[in-house]
Amino acid sequence: MPLMPARQPHFITLTAAAAAPAAEIAAGLLAPAARLSPKFLYDALGSALFQAITELPEYYPTRTEAAIFQAHGEAIAAALPPGLAGGTLVDLGAGDSAKAARLFPLLRPARYLAIDISADFLRRSLQALQQQFPAIEMTGVAMDFAQRLALPDGLVDAPALLFYPGSSIGNFAPDEALRLLREAHALSRGGALLIGADLCKPAAVLHAAYDDALGVTAAFNLNLLRHLNVLAGSDFDVRDWRHQARWDEPASRIEMHLLARRDVAVRWPGGGRDFAAGEGIHTENSYKWEAAAFEALLRDAGWRHVRRWTDARGWFGVFLALA
Ligand code: AVI
Repeated sequence: MPLMPARQPHFITLTAAAAAPAAEIAAGLLAPAARLSPKFLYDALGSALFQAITELPEYYPTRTEAAIFQAHGEAIAAALPPGLAGGTLVDLGAGDSAKAARLFPLLRPARYLAIDISADFLRRSLQALQQQFPAIEMTGVAMDFAQRLALPDGLVDAPALLFYPGSSIGNFAPDEALRLLREAHALSRGGALLIGADLCKPAAVLHAAYDDALGVTAAFNLNLLRHLNVLAGSDFDVRDWRHQARWDEPASRIEMHLLARRDVAVRWPGGGRDFAAGEGIHTENSYKWEAAAFEALLRDAGWRHVRRWTDARGWFGVFLALA
């Protein structure tokens, strides 16, 4: 009997938003207070360093969220409206899809739509996942949804469960997070959102998590400069810079900065900037939410019937909201 060909995932690349990084990088470096989008943290090495961060004893979010899903996964699945488990699962910022894959046995999706900024990473992980779960129809969409979350017609045409774990929502300022959650609401076509958000906690815990003893977070932050050299042709020398994590209490966010160790002249094709010793480049914000404020944000974005599961310390929240 002839063998059936193995099922293959489909891939779509929506590249428009990522088209001209050099201009965006130059504008950020030339701003009076230099700042860059955290998306530049994630080249191949940056993604590997982030994976390493999630293994660090100080970096509590990943394992705390996993423990919440472990303890409450069945209750979460039971709280879904009829038809959503067994339907389409849309993974926002899928990475290696490991978090979604752990939920497959509970959610039993017929279709899995994985969205990620890194086309190569997505292709590799989805091809491997398809072999493990041949019954699920898988589609990979390579796109940067930081500016706008919208998909071509037909990709999501029935109520879907959107999955946005890891507190990636925390890397958006509250107004941007509201916009993204509204777009997610439209994209769900009357479905639901399952989202992880990091919650407020003592500043010392945050400092340790974002400036760990091994220096992995420092390497993750400094690697952004090597990535800029590739994307914009700049001549950053990482040895001229050091990592700093800074807690901004009024804004409720932990910030990552790169500070010049000495006077540094940086050049790139068509431009350059002189940084004085101690001057910085702001590379990331990670907002920490009060649980009630995050629920209010979800409601402002149009979501309703919000439910929440947390760990015993109340450090991380998993929220389920219906459209
Ligand atoms: C991806 N994101 C949710 C991480 C965070 O905690 O904000 C990125 C990160 N930055 C430093 N460590 C981890």
